[in-house]
Amino acid sequence: MMRLNGVAVLSATLVFGACGGGDDASQAGTPETPASTPATAPTPTAGSGQEPLQVDPAILPEGVTAAMVQEGQQVFHGAGICYTCHTAGGGGGPLAPDLTDETWLNVDGEYASIIELVNTGVPQPLEHPGAMLPRAGMPLTDAQVASVSAYVFALSRS
Ligand code: HEC
Repeated sequence: MMRLNGVAVLSATLVFGACGGGDDASQAGTPETPASTPATAPTPTAGSGQEPLQVDPAILPEGVTAAMVQEGQQVFHGAGICYTCHTAGGGGGPLAPDLTDETWLNVDGEYASIIELVNTGVPQPLEHPGAMLPRAGMPLTDAQVASVSAYVFALSRS
């Protein structure tokens, strides 16, 4: 049997469940939270905070495009499994910090520092119980790391 992707999908589902799944919208204080579908596998459109992020291209660092931000949003809520800890929309939760505000724990918030953090992970979190693995433990390409970092960069400035 081929189990290559099955393992990753299964573990993503487990982590998702452990984070409380669809309940985090209530903690995030989002007023419009239509009943999401936490019982199903991650879908980029389910839940709050996943409407395409509106970005002013003028705030983006050199070499970063709005298209990269959109692609990074998909990585964040899909292949990168970032939302399992940082929650859908990046508002944070018990397992990982808010990425939408201007407060940073481990980085200075500049694009390069975000890329570096995603590549190295956080072996010793400052305020959270468990480590973040390099690239969240997922087989992300350099392009996916660049785009998900562009999304995080834009999140904190939108
Ligand atoms: C297993 C849970 C988990 C996953 C999955 C995860 N992170 Fe994290 N992340 C953390 C923790 C824990 C920290 C460090 C928090 C601390 O120091 O208290 C962190 C920190 C960060 C930071 C720095 C925030 C700061 O204020 O210093 C960024 C940026 C970040 N993560 C992005 C991502 C991205 C992008 C992904 C997906 C590729 C991702 N994370 C996946 C748990 C996770």
